[in-house]
Amino acid sequence: MKRIGIFYGSTSGNTRAIAQKIRYNLKPGLVDVYDVKDACVKDVEKYDNIIFGASTWGTGILQKDFELFLHTTLKKANLKGKKIAIFGTGNSSVYPNSFVDAIGIIFEELVGKGVTFVGEFPTDGYEFQSSLSIFNNKFKGLPLDDDSDEEQNKLRISIWTDLLKIDMN
Ligand SMILES: Cc1cc2nc3c(=O)[nH]c(=O)nc-3n(C[C@H](O)[C@H](O)[C@H](O)COP(=O)(O)O)c2cc1C
Repeated sequence: MKRIGIFYGSTSGNTRAIAQKIRYNLKPGLVDVYDVKDACVKDVEKYDNIIFGASTWGTGILQKDFELFLHTTLKKANLKGKKIAIFGTGNSSVYPNSFVDAIGIIFEELVGKGVTFVGEFPTDGYEFQSSLSIFNNKFKGLPLDDDSDEEQNKLRISIWTDLLKIDMN
């Protein structure tokens, strides 16, 4: 597997913690983790395999640091040919109508930039009303729900990272 860069935006620490779990599940020595607040264009461009992670806030709004990163750093970065996976944190019981919208917002911004998206995830087992992250009946990345128990999130991370080990080869 080639080196992977994980870039996350996190307000209260949940997405940061998930980023470390994903790193651990993939192969810690092969994965670098960046808070988007500290990441520059060069950091992004040095990876062929990239994972983006962000939470959703204020009813369907991308986490604020990630929003800035998306519209400044990522806008300038050459992403052509890169494999991209996305994960998002959210809360389906409190925000069922905008569940993990961040995944869809990031996807829509990057589509058309010559990247290949990997790591789609089935909607089975999630309970919510609507989400901007669903295309063709699948999430465009891995949703992690504050409302799910730790074991369930652990299992989902494990399934997803096993998928990435194949798709990011
Ligand atoms: C004010 C507020 C608004 C939120 N809005 C959404 C939302 O629209 N959709 C969603 O899925 N989760 C929403 N959440 C839940 C957060 O995305 C979730 O708690 C996430 O784990 C926070 O991750 P972070 O600490 O990495 O920022 C919201 C939480 C708060 C406090």
